[in-house]
Amino acid sequence: MQLRPPADQDIVVFGASGDLAGRKLLPALYNLCAEDLLPGQGDIVGTAPSTWNDDDFRTHAHDSIAQFSRTGLDDQVWQRFAARLRFVALRQDGGLADLRAALKREQRLVYLAVPSSAFIPLVQQIGQSDLAEGTSLIIEKPFGHDLESAHQLNTALHQVLPEERIFRIDHYLGKETVQNLLVFRFGNAIFERVWNRDCVERVEISVAESLGVDGRGRFYEETGALRDIVQNHLFQVLSVVGMEAPVCFEAEALRNEKVKLLRAVQPVHPHDVIRGQYTGGAVEDEQVPAYRDEPGVARDSTTETFAALRLHIDTWRWSGVPFLLRTGKRLRRRDTRIVVAFRDVPLHFFEGLAVDGLESNRLVVRIQPDEGIALTFLAKQPGPEIRTQTVRMDFSYGSSFKTSPPEAYERLLHDALVGDHTLFIREDEVERGWEIIQPVLAEPPPVQPYAAGSWGPDQADALAAPSHWHSLDDEA
Ligand SMILES: NC(=O)c1ccc[n+]([C@@H]2O[C@H](COP(=O)([O-])OP(=O)(O)OC[C@H]3O[C@@H](n4cnc5c(N)ncnc54)[C@H](OP(=O)(O)O)[C@@H]3O)[C@@H](O)[C@H]2O)c1
Repeated sequence: MQLRPPADQDIVVFGASGDLAGRKLLPALYNLCAEDLLPGQGDIVGTAPSTWNDDDFRTHAHDSIAQFSRTGLDDQVWQRFAARLRFVALRQDGGLADLRAALKREQRLVYLAVPSSAFIPLVQQIGQSDLAEGTSLIIEKPFGHDLESAHQLNTALHQVLPEERIFRIDHYLGKETVQNLLVFRFGNAIFERVWNRDCVERVEISVAESLGVDGRGRFYEETGALRDIVQNHLFQVLSVVGMEAPVCFEAEALRNEKVKLLRAVQPVHPHDVIRGQYTGGAVEDEQVPAYRDEPGVARDSTTETFAALRLHIDTWRWSGVPFLLRTGKRLRRRDTRIVVAFRDVPLHFFEGLAVDGLESNRLVVRIQPDEGIALTFLAKQPGPEIRTQTVRMDFSYGSSFKTSPPEAYERLLHDALVGDHTLFIREDEVERGWEIIQPVLAEPPPVQPYAAGSWGPDQADALAAPSHWHSLDDEA
C-alpha cells in the first residue's frame, strides 16, 4: 500500500517537553517530513506548562532528533521541519485560548502525550475552547487503571469528540512484526490450516524487558506489569494471533474480529496468574538494585514487575488450547516473541533410537529484537544411524529486506493524520481488556520474588504444566 500525504492540518503535541515527545514523537514527525508524509501545509505546535518559546522548542526538537531519530539528522530536512515548529505555553488557568489563536487551519491532529491525570481536564478544555470542531485526538496509554476509570475516560472523550475522531494508541500495533502477523496468517493458506485446536498444543506470548523502572518508580508503583503491559500490549498481540479472518482489510472489519476474540477470552481467575517482583541481581553484566530499592518505590511495595497468566479462549478454534502470557522487567534480556507450539506426533517411531532434542514443531515470531519468524522441525542427522535433531527454517527482516523496520510511531502518526483507524484501539476493545483482568486486580495473588537477570519467578512454571515454557534462551 502506497502511503499518501495527509490533507492540510496542524499537529498539536500536548506534553511537548516530555520524555515520549523527545524520544519518539518529534523524531517520528521529523522522519515523516523527510519522506514527504507530513501534511503539505500545517504547523507542528508543541505545548506544555513550561515557559518555553519557539526557539527553546526548536532547540529541544533538534537535540532530541539528533539523539533518537533512526535516520540521524539531515540539515536540509531539519530546515524544512524546523520552519513548522511553534510553541504555546499552557496558561496557568488551563484555558486553551492562546493555543486556539495560534492554530491557523481548520483541521488538526492533537496528541495527548501528558500524564493520564491530565487526559480528562485537557479534553474538557478542548471542548470548552471551541476546539472540538476539526480536531482528531490521539490518546496515549494508560486508558484508565481499571474498568470503571476506563469507562469514565471513554465517556469524557465522547462528550467532546465522536469515536471516529479518537485514536487510542498502542505502539505495539504499529510494529512491522505485528502487522506482518496478519499477512503471515491471512496471506499464506498453509498456516491457516493448522492454526487451531486440532494442531496447536499451546500459544505463548512473552514481553521480556531487561530495563527496570528507569527512574519512573513513582509512576510504576501505581501501575505494575498487569496494567502497563498485559492489559494493552499483550492483549493486542493476543487478539491478532487468535482472531478470525476479517471480511476485508478495513479498520472496522479488523477491529470487529479483534473485539470478538477478546469477548471469547474468559476473565482470568487469580489462580491462573503469577505476580513477581525483582530483587537485586546482575542484568547483562551490570549489578542492579531490587525494585524496592528504586527511587520512588515503597520499601514494602507489592506492585508486580512480572506477571504470567494462563488464559482460555472459548471459541471453536481455540477451545482447550492454553494461551500463556508473560511479561517482566529486569529479566535476562530484552525479547518479545510469540511461540505457537504444535501438537506432538501420535507415535514416536524414533524413540529408543539415538535422539537429540526431540520436540514438537514450533513457530516462533520474534517481534523484537532480531525481527523475524522461525519454524522448527525434526531432521535426520547425516550418518548411518537414525539420529534426529531439531533444526529451523528462519526468516529475518534484516537479511531478507536489507533494512530494519521503521519506528511504530511514524506509521501510527501517519495513519491518524489520514484518518485510518486500523491500528488503533476501539472503545469496546479497551473496556474488554480491563474486564478480562478485573478479577486479578480485585484479588491480586501475592508477589513472588525473582532475581534480576533471571527469567522470572519459578512459580510461573506451574502455569505451563504439564508442558513447560519455551526457553527464551533458545535461539529461535
Ligand atoms: N515515555 C514513554 O516511553 C511512554 C510510552 C508509552 C506511553 N506513555 C504515556 O505518554 C504520556 C507522557 O509520558 P512521558 O513519559 O512523556 O511523561 P513526562 O516525561 O512526565 O512528560 C509529561 C509532559 O506532559 C506535560 N504535563 C504535565 N502535566 C501536565 C498537565 N496537567 N497539563 C498539560 N501538560 C502537562 C509536561 O510538561 P512540563 O515538562 O512542563 O511539566 C511534559 O511535557 C503518559 O500518559 C505516558 O503514560 C509514555
